[in-house]
Amino acid sequence: MSIDFFLPDTQSTEALAEALAQTLPERAVVFLHGELGAGKSTLARALLRALGVTGPIKSPTYALVERYPLDGGGAEAVHLDLYRIAGVDELEFLGLGDLASARLWLVEWPEKGGKALPAADLQIHLTVEGEGRRAELRANSQSARDWLVRFSKIAGLTGSS
Ligand SMILES: Nc1ncnc2c1ncn2[C@@H]1O[C@H](COP(=O)(O)OP(=O)(O)OP(=O)(O)O)[C@@H](O)[C@H]1O
Ligand SMILES: [Mg+2]
Repeated sequence: MSIDFFLPDTQSTEALAEALAQTLPERAVVFLHGELGAGKSTLARALLRALGVTGPIKSPTYALVERYPLDGGGAEAVHLDLYRIAGVDELEFLGLGDLASARLWLVEWPEKGGKALPAADLQIHLTVEGEGRRAELRANSQSARDWLVRFSKIAGLTGSS
């Protein structure tokens, strides 16, 4: 199952993130695909904000991973940017096993993570289209298919499936 949207501006990216956050499943691994400047970090940041992260949201470009507590119940979101990773070894060095129980994974440049990453529930492909962006949301698991069904009921965006 996949859904496709045109996002004319960053506000519509934020609206997409808001609707994804409101319908978030118990656990989700989200891969953010797209060239440099496609809007992956904008979407990741908006999603973290929509989930109630109030402190600074740093780009994980150098640290590779940033972790954020969600609500009071010990849940966690992790944001990875693997653009600068030298090799898959470096990921193993980071100890991703430690992150396994995170409620939400947001991974930019997942292509560089290979088998060290958990499987994606949802893949979001972003492409530059004129002044805006196109987003394609692809569900790879039952939980993500259910997510997209909930999401499409509330998303105030016009899309096609
Ligand atoms: N829907 C949108 N419409 C127009 N501009 C957008 C949209 N989403 C993001 N942008 C703009 O695109 C630029 C790049 O965004 P962003 O840093 O999120 O890209 P990225 O995919 O994370 O890039 P990188 O691979 O370099 O980390 C920013 O200036 C951002 O404001
Ligand atoms: Mg980025």
